[in-house]
Amino acid sequence: MKTYLVTGGAGFIGSNYIHYMLGKYGNSIKIINVDALTYAGNPENLEAVKDHPGYEFVKADICDKEKIAAIFAENDIDFVIHFAAESHVDRSIDAPEVFVRTNVLGTLIMLNCARKAWEKEDGTYPIGKKFIHVSTDEVYGSLTGENTFFYETTPYDPRSPYSASKAGADMLVRSYMETYKFPANITNCSNNYGPYQFPEKLIPLIINNALLGKKLPVYGDGKYVRDWLYVLDHAKAIDLVTQKAALFETYNIGGKNEKQNIEIVKIILDTLLDMLPDDDSRKKHINHDLIAFVSDRKGHDRRYAIAPDKIKADLGWEPETMFAEGIRLTIAWYFENSAWMENVTSGDYQAYYEKMYK
Ligand code: NAD
Ligand code: DAU
Repeated sequence: MKTYLVTGGAGFIGSNYIHYMLGKYGNSIKIINVDALTYAGNPENLEAVKDHPGYEFVKADICDKEKIAAIFAENDIDFVIHFAAESHVDRSIDAPEVFVRTNVLGTLIMLNCARKAWEKEDGTYPIGKKFIHVSTDEVYGSLTGENTFFYETTPYDPRSPYSASKAGADMLVRSYMETYKFPANITNCSNNYGPYQFPEKLIPLIINNALLGKKLPVYGDGKYVRDWLYVLDHAKAIDLVTQKAALFETYNIGGKNEKQNIEIVKIILDTLLDMLPDDDSRKKHINHDLIAFVSDRKGHDRRYAIAPDKIKADLGWEPETMFAEGIRLTIAWYFENSAWMENVTSGDYQAYYEKMYK
């Protein structure tokens, strides 16, 4: 029985990962989900597994050294899957400090606690222990020129406080692998979309606004490009890296699915119209006139695109879910979970939205 310490498992990707892992491995694994439950962490995301015998939730801040050390002391942790982070670029532009605290200091504390628990007296580590650091393609900066891609060898060039803090965390993991031969892998993934994504991010925000008949804010000229990956495919990639990747390797994970933001917004509108029944009153207000070009994000990165060649060659991973299918699955999930959306958009979200978009 392998024990996984998952950080940030109550967020978007972490909760999808936990559902995937418990579905795949059932009672043959144990997952301890450590999450501080910030605005982005939502216990509702894990309602379906909360009584699963292989699942345990611990409310803790990854910056709380004593609590994290105690979790390692009380459990024989085999794998750490480190998702916990502040993840939204716009919030990092508004208030960078918490990004450095959680993403850099929090990662350092996770590394120190894992090292202390795992390192033997001779400086080696028991076979099978591994730390997976989940990072982003944004550390590579912004691509210029067509047919250019991010490879694992692309130099880091972070350009927002968010990406700088993630780059700082990546550098710490690299330094631990180099200095202490600490058993780890780093993954750098492109934009995810799917169930349980908080509606501060483009795709769920557009779905929610369109259903409510609200304006759809598109930054700048709308021609910024992201490489979208269905979240389940990311979960599968992380599992493969955990089970099969050689220690110290880094893997880029991407959807091979570049789209301009304006294309994404139009696809969502057309898919909503196609999926809603004819007698649904919301159909009357969903149209392209809702699109509103608004002020650009400061320092907005023009294009991200991952070359996932190495993960395909080494581990046989490729994105499985085409965007046309993934966006329908995502919209269907938001239709079926309207109460989830109502809950996360009540309270603080309204104040955030006012501040960000007015
Ligand atoms: P998210 O914002 O949805 O979730 C983050 C989770 O971390 C939340 O549950 C939150 O409560 C928790 N958390 C935040 N600060 C914490 C702290 N101090 N201690 C403990 N828990 C804390 O983020 P996400 O979109 O699921 O991203 C997860 C990870 O994947 C992040 O590291 C992010 O950088 C990376 N990533 C995200 C994407 C994407 O498109 N969303 C793409 C590539 C990489
Ligand atoms: O590339 C991976 C990264 O993808 C992750 O590391 C981040 O955690 C994740 O948030 C995401 O970052 P982005 O900034 O690319 O995602 P976001 O959904 O915020 O924005 C996607 C694009 O859409 C971006 O070009 C900005 C634009 N946008 C976003 C919002 C919220 C708009 O035009 N309007 C909006 O209202």
